[in-house]
Amino acid sequence: MQSIIDNPLLAEAGEKRLRWFREQMPLMAELQKLFSVQKPFAGRKIGICLHVEPKTAIWLECLLAGDAEHITIVGNLGTTRPDTAAYLAADPRVTVYAREGDTLEDHERYAELVMEEKPDLLLDNGSNLIRAYYRKERDWRPLGANEETRSGRLLLEEAGIEPTSPIIVIDDSPLKRLLENAIGVGQSVVDGFMRATSLLLGGRRVLEIGYGYVGSGIANKFRAMGSNTMVYDIDPVYLLKAKADGHTVDRELENLIPQAEVIITATGRFHVLRKEHIPLFRDGVILCNAGHFGFEIDAEDLRSAADHAEVVEEGKELLRFGEKRVFLLENASPLNLSTGTGNPISIMDLGLGLQACCAAKHAEAGNGLAAAIRPVPREIDVFVAEKMLAL
Ligand SMILES: NC(=O)c1ccc[n+]([C@@H]2O[C@H](COP(=O)([O-])OP(=O)(O)OC[C@H]3O[C@@H](n4cnc5c(N)ncnc54)[C@H](O)[C@@H]3O)[C@@H](O)[C@H]2O)c1
Repeated sequence: MQSIIDNPLLAEAGEKRLRWFREQMPLMAELQKLFSVQKPFAGRKIGICLHVEPKTAIWLECLLAGDAEHITIVGNLGTTRPDTAAYLAADPRVTVYAREGDTLEDHERYAELVMEEKPDLLLDNGSNLIRAYYRKERDWRPLGANEETRSGRLLLEEAGIEPTSPIIVIDDSPLKRLLENAIGVGQSVVDGFMRATSLLLGGRRVLEIGYGYVGSGIANKFRAMGSNTMVYDIDPVYLLKAKADGHTVDRELENLIPQAEVIITATGRFHVLRKEHIPLFRDGVILCNAGHFGFEIDAEDLRSAADHAEVVEEGKELLRFGEKRVFLLENASPLNLSTGTGNPISIMDLGLGLQACCAAKHAEAGNGLAAAIRPVPREIDVFVAEKMLAL
């Protein structure tokens, strides 16, 4: 299996960049020690879909310490770090399908290449691999799968998948939702926005669309930086929570859009911002997304309606509608991953710790997990929380 990556010569640079991350992921270090003794993945092939970036590489080192026979990893779209891809691909036990400029078609092709390996475990982020598996009749069955995200879970439900082996939704862990989604993503989206724009956040009118775990964290962190925050959520319960948290809210999105200088989506839903909103945008508005997939903003729809579209700087696209200028950041990929360095290291130490322990659970003989979509077993949440508290 030949890796498909940008540049294998970046392997050494990729390894150098990992050193800081290795030092800052104590849970991964501890699990790596434990797994090197227990060898939970001995003889197992693992298929992974995840952002190919340094924290993921540390996690793969942990799975390899657990004696995984082979790992094939597909990168998520728009978030691949070529040096990390090169570092991972240099290990003969790892095949990497991840390039910086991969398209959706590439991504789907890679998922099918993973299926050819007949992995024992599918560890997914966006349910790309799990949906690929259930799309066709297969002559093998994985022991189990993990799905990392809310978006991935929604897509599994929409596809009406009836699992033939257990699927653990990591996002259904209270630890993941309360810490990563609600606390970590807000910080990293603020960081990604500042890196991308170099703009002052104080006094800026920021509209957050979607006030779930992720959206509330983003709105609260922008407000902490002095922004004037507005929130819209289709669910009145979450909108009321936003109001009680002190944000400006409105039942109608149309009333908030014209006031916004920055609009951020985090709903997990398709095309929340689209062509019909163009007349409402103020001149110079900046659009960006923090949800898992780039589809929350219908970038193609906006581009096709524009009189002129140009990339003014890498990751910043200017769309002109007559005299009106609209800026789109990072082609609507998740901002914290495409411009920043992703979620804070300690948050991903925890999230990837959950992933690793759930993967080991699937691999355990007689694990008692039913063939269903289910949350993280309580004992794993408790194990990870206790380890983190003791660090
Ligand atoms: N960028 C990252 O690092 C990162 C990390 C974790 C999760 N995510 C992604 O962020 C997204 C949100 O995750 P979450 O945990 O907050 O989910 P959630 O279910 O807690 O919240 C989503 C919110 O969006 C609202 N919503 C749905 N459709 C809407 C619409 N059309 N207009 C306005 N509001 C709408 C829902 O009512 C809900 O309150 C998902 O795509 C998830 O996968 C991204």
